[in-house]
Amino acid sequence: MAMSRGGGDKDEPLLHSPAANGGRAGRRRFLTFVAVAAALLASYHLLLAPAAPASRYHALFLTLGSNATAAAHLRALTLRPHVAGTEANAAAAEYVRAALASLAFPTRVVPYSVLLSYPAHRSLSLSAGPGLASRPFPLVQETYPGDPYAEAAAEVVPTYFAYSGSGSVAAEVVYANYGHNEDYAYLAARGVDVAGKVVLARYGDLHCEDMVRNARAAGAAAAIVYTDAKDFGGSSAKGAKRKSFPDGRWLPPTGVQVGTLYYGNGDPTTPLWPSCAAGDDCERLIVEELDGSEAMPGIPALPVSARDGETILKAMGGDVAPPKWQGGEGAPVYRLGPGPSVLNFTYIGNDTLATIENVFAVIEGKEEPDRYVIIGNHRDAWTFGAIDPNSGTAAMLEIAERLSKLQKRGWRPRRTIIICSWDAEEFALIGSTEWAEENIDMLASRAIAYLNVDISVFGPGGLMPRATPQLDELIKEASKMVPDPDEPSQTLYDSMMPHHPPITRVAGAGTDFAAFVQHIGVPSLDMSYGLFEEYPVYHSLYDDYVWVERFGDPLFHRHVAVASVWGLIALKLADDEIIPFNYINYASELEEYAKDVEDKCTGCSVSFSPLHKSIRQLESAAIRIHREKKLLQAENWNLNTKQYTLKVREINDRLMMAERAFTNREGLVGRPWYKHLIYASSDQDDWGTKAFPGIVSAMDKAKKSNTTESWRFLQHEIYRVARAVSKASVVLDGRLT
Ligand SMILES: *[C@@H]1O[C@H](CO)[C@@H](O)[C@H](O)[C@H]1NC(C)=O
Ligand SMILES: *[C@@H]1O[C@H](CO)[C@@H](O)[C@H](O)[C@H]1NC(C)=O
Ligand SMILES: *[C@@H]1O[C@H](CO)[C@@H](O)[C@H](O)[C@H]1NC(C)=O
Ligand SMILES: *[C@@H]1O[C@H](CO)[C@@H](O)[C@H](O)[C@H]1NC(C)=O
Repeated sequence: MAMSRGGGDKDEPLLHSPAANGGRAGRRRFLTFVAVAAALLASYHLLLAPAAPASRYHALFLTLGSNATAAAHLRALTLRPHVAGTEANAAAAEYVRAALASLAFPTRVVPYSVLLSYPAHRSLSLSAGPGLASRPFPLVQETYPGDPYAEAAAEVVPTYFAYSGSGSVAAEVVYANYGHNEDYAYLAARGVDVAGKVVLARYGDLHCEDMVRNARAAGAAAAIVYTDAKDFGGSSAKGAKRKSFPDGRWLPPTGVQVGTLYYGNGDPTTPLWPSCAAGDDCERLIVEELDGSEAMPGIPALPVSARDGETILKAMGGDVAPPKWQGGEGAPVYRLGPGPSVLNFTYIGNDTLATIENVFAVIEGKEEPDRYVIIGNHRDAWTFGAIDPNSGTAAMLEIAERLSKLQKRGWRPRRTIIICSWDAEEFALIGSTEWAEENIDMLASRAIAYLNVDISVFGPGGLMPRATPQLDELIKEASKMVPDPDEPSQTLYDSMMPHHPPITRVAGAGTDFAAFVQHIGVPSLDMSYGLFEEYPVYHSLYDDYVWVERFGDPLFHRHVAVASVWGLIALKLADDEIIPFNYINYASELEEYAKDVEDKCTGCSVSFSPLHKSIRQLESAAIRIHREKKLLQAENWNLNTKQYTLKVREINDRLMMAERAFTNREGLVGRPWYKHLIYASSDQDDWGTKAFPGIVSAMDKAKKSNTTESWRFLQHEIYRVARAVSKASVVLDGRLT
């Protein structure tokens, strides 16, 4: 879409052949035209000439940040709760589309009909023992004094777990701490039988889907998950250090963290292939048959508040739980159970096809329109979504406003920039996954990078990026250009580097980069400002604009800082003649992971040499292409011959495609959607390994079974990763063997 330049459209009436009017008036108007045109042209050249190097626009981009813009977008997006599949979220989609269209970017909306999940009926009651009278829990998050959103809170979806099994269970309770496998092993060692019981576990570092999966594996008939006041809560007591929202940042006693229990990514009815819009024909699995699938939790489960969790714990008997399992100050003594208290729990879910909408804006590249730099954030929220995810949406729209200002000053990106607002991320990364599956071959051959921001701001704590390692250098360089919003005498780089490590990896899923990097092999990053621990109202009713204004980002400077670094990275990827990727760091990261898994494999009868060898090859190839790039930049920087252009394109293709080489057609064993052999969420939570999910999983099995086949299988997985790494060096070298 061509933008007007230098305000030319305002003066359009002057362009009607003035001489044709004749007479003095016409002549005067013509002279005025000439003068105005000359003045415009002069000021235009002074401001930014058409041939201004991209770096001047990038510097300008950094000066255009506006906290008022970010705040206004956030407020508008969070007036109502907007869970995926609802009318309120369709209105939010239209808000984002209209905001992007008002900046004169071409927009489009891509709908899919997908399986979402809502609560139809919930009840939970507690009795002191079998046959005794039971007391129901209200299961309601209370609004706070002065809550400006109290009325809209009635629209919040009742607390639940999406895709929970439906059913009724009345059984004794067992307390399972944070719900790790080792917690169940401990219960078994203490002789506490979980089979057929209702497990009570508390949120900690496990995702709720893993917690419910572990409970089911231990034989539990149902799972109740609560937020312990020790980890998330505040107090209303006078002089308390940690105050509950709205007086402090902490979760109020009735606050509940909701979530999803679906174990896969994307629409559950279309695993591995794209869904389609309502009324269109596409293959779907039968909803009723999904219940028995591995990816579904299979048992009824419900998240509850700290207050309800404590009420249940108070009624429990059995042995006293170990010190690490206990609560904070003022909490009752936690016991393991079982019982004698009984929980009577019913959950009926409504898993139903509903329409979701991805919204896009496209800024077409001038020289390489067929190369894509993709910026994305999801829009759907469990409640008001002020931090998760609309702090990211506000930052993304703030970037869009700055890009539109650059366009008015003559900037056009070299490559195409695509801005994406995803839907139904909270349910299973559904919007981004369906779109990536539908466009897989286009993305695999054309996407330079995917730059995700889900939550842009948690609170204080500095910039926290995670990325595939060829982006590290670019992240560091860009973060040096942006002042730290909390400490303006330093930069985001200074606030990032003290973290260990300063840049983490895109191994865990949990947000929309998964389809891009783990399914397709597109270099990806994700970033936010601040620490998760600063945001205890996560996925609760209290994730609203007031919380952001008081605690998350009072002056919206953190939003603007994230928008600056996120946008600058996008601009450099879109405009730099040679894509600013550096694979040398990738090789050293891989060597670290290789040493790490080898260290954990003492006594294993396998060889890691193929892996080490492939990584050395990758390192050499990375050094070679880095030199080649420097040479090209030094020798030919001002040439614009066809030969030079093709050479640049060729080296860029190698840089772009090397990441794809880490993917494998078959994918991980038993998890075919995960094609990337370096980064994926591990099915072994307990290992703490950062990479090589296939090797880690095979190593775990081999250590447990210690059979010849299991060791051969581990060796096979090591070879498989080594081959992927070797493929990447062939791509970087750009030579057939
Ligand atoms: C399930 O949800 C859909 C969409 O909100 C609704 O139309 C339908 O009536 C619900 N069914 C039940 C049984 O609650
Ligand atoms: C559980 O509660 C339901 C009502 O919600 C009641 O009908 C049922 O009898 C209760 N079951 C037990 C075993 O207490
Ligand atoms: C934006 O920043 C300025 C300067 O710090 C501040 O005065 C203003 O209140 C901020 N705006 C918002 C909406 O927070
Ligand atoms: C596996 O079994 C062999 C005997 O077959 C034994 O020598 C070895 O220590 C075992 N290794 C592990 C890791 O348990």
